[in-house]
Amino acid sequence: MVWITYIAADGARSRVDVPGGSNLMMGAIQNNVRGIDGECGGCLSCATCHVYLDPAWQERVAPADAMETEMLEAVVAERRPTSRLGCQVRITPDLDGMPVHLPETQS
Ligand code: FES
Repeated sequence: MVWITYIAADGARSRVDVPGGSNLMMGAIQNNVRGIDGECGGCLSCATCHVYLDPAWQERVAPADAMETEMLEAVVAERRPTSRLGCQVRITPDLDGMPVHLPETQS
């Protein structure tokens, strides 16, 4: 298990244990973390799993591929250099302790 801390736009924190091999979107949904919708279930067609990686941890996460980069154009909240789609960020042991910031809105 890998501990991830989701930080809402209002500063509320949810520290949850996410299984390796899962992803940031599923980790939030399965632990009732508010702020990630994940409407398409992770098939890269909704952009409602927008998250902001913490710059200090960004290098530990595999970069976005072309499809994710294209879908990031569809996020509703401000897109930043650290923006990712949570369903595409795979949980690995290297991410244990990682904070993830959530946008103000997904829709
Ligand atoms: S859950 Fe739909 S794009 Fe990530």
